[in-house]
Amino acid sequence: MSEHVEKKMDHLYLQQMMTETTSNLAVVILAAGQGTRMCSALPKVLHTLAGKPLLEHVVCYAESLDPGSIHVVYGHGGEQVRERLSHLQVNWVLQEQQLGTGHAVEQALPQIGTDQTVLVLYGDVPLVKSETLLNLLNRSRESGFSLLTVSLESPAGYGRIVRSSDGRMARIVEQRDASVDELEIREVNTGILAVSGDKLKGWIDELENGNAQGEFYLTDIVEMAVRDGVEIKTVSAATAKEVQGVNDRLQLSQLERAYQRDQAEQLMLDGVTLLDPDRFDLRGTAKAGQDVIIDVNVILQGEVILGDRVEIGANCHIQDATIEEGTVILPNSVIDSAEIGPSCRIGPFARIRPGTKLTASAHVGNFVELKNSQVAEGSKINHLSYVGDSIVGARVNIGAGVITCNYDGANKYRTVIGDDAFVGSDTQLVAPVEVGRGATIGAGSTIVKDAPADQLTLSRSKQTTIKGWRRPQKKS
Ligand code: UD1
Ligand code: CA
Repeated sequence: MSEHVEKKMDHLYLQQMMTETTSNLAVVILAAGQGTRMCSALPKVLHTLAGKPLLEHVVCYAESLDPGSIHVVYGHGGEQVRERLSHLQVNWVLQEQQLGTGHAVEQALPQIGTDQTVLVLYGDVPLVKSETLLNLLNRSRESGFSLLTVSLESPAGYGRIVRSSDGRMARIVEQRDASVDELEIREVNTGILAVSGDKLKGWIDELENGNAQGEFYLTDIVEMAVRDGVEIKTVSAATAKEVQGVNDRLQLSQLERAYQRDQAEQLMLDGVTLLDPDRFDLRGTAKAGQDVIIDVNVILQGEVILGDRVEIGANCHIQDATIEEGTVILPNSVIDSAEIGPSCRIGPFARIRPGTKLTASAHVGNFVELKNSQVAEGSKINHLSYVGDSIVGARVNIGAGVITCNYDGANKYRTVIGDDAFVGSDTQLVAPVEVGRGATIGAGSTIVKDAPADQLTLSRSKQTTIKGWRRPQKKS
């Protein structure tokens, strides 16, 4: 079977699972913890992975399950979290005091129906796959309770999965409450579980905090389930990375690298050449045509679309941009919220700011800044210029050091430059101003009035030479 067909079948299977399992799903995301080890004024879940807050990653994969509701339990730095993520379609639930994971889930329960399945996720575990969660939800339907576990080389810090002699789950014991034998167990609790709402409500009511940390542990519901004859179905995560939480900046950087590596590999498999996949970052989404070549230390951010044969040189930062086929971006260029047409040549060291649109075959050279400007086909702005709020026609040549003076300190004005115009070096175009079609502007001019088409316009004081002038000499 071809890989493509296999992929498609996987997808159909997942869709089928989804309609079966997620119609009455409530997701609870625990995000109230302090995150002390981040050593940060910023709440942990607002720290970013691939440019997106950790909590937003979690909400995104929760949304992929198409649940009936998503509840985010927040607390520490709460207002900051809500403000920064106010665009998310979630129900915010305040946990004023962090009295444990069981207490955190309890805060959301009043808004959850007994007929719902509750999926508990952690706001600081950003890379869980939808397939894994669908699998977990599917298993929960068999008994009303399923739990995601993972086997780790070094399980220190995690709750251990204690199984009875028949292999069934018996309980979870936290690191600080575990015996020497139990500490040897490699299979650990990821914290992610799916449980039926009515059972959960009963068990949460019974939780007590008589443990080493004096907290209401959600994990204690496992023993209650066993007592009530509810078998806990376990699903094991394919990789540790998928269920890895972020506790400090070192772990965050490890997950960032793993995530970036996956994205880089996907792009390469889709036909992009990355000269070094370990020196490439995608913070958002990228669509690329055929035979795109990306040199080292390139960052793509937001939504980036690259046409066939686009080449991006080293150290470019490209954000929310479309770059059409055959265009070459030379090293150290920065492009933000712009559309670049086909067969253009940009950089090195070009800066293209929001609202800029280049048609085909434009050249923008070193130390040129463009902002909110349109440049038509074949025009060249090759050295050290600032062109802002301008409309530049086709085949225009803008000399070195030309500046559009678009701002009078209060308002911004447009500059219009007609097709085939030639603007000499070191000219200031004081907007609002228009340079006619085919006009020539002499070098070093300050143009404050419209320059007529097809004529030479210049503003320059007459050149004089002072006869007999001598340079001053140093006094002895
Ligand atoms: C928890 C599990 C442990 C598991 C581990 C996986 C319990 C008792 N233990 O331990 O078995 O191996 O996660 O990482 O559940 N939170 C709140 N409010 C609270 C307490 C925590 O929202 O009052 C949130 C935290 O922000 C975090 C998550 O719950 O996202 C887990 O809390 P944490 O304190 O990290 O639990 P662990 O001790 O690591
Ligand atoms: Ca933790």
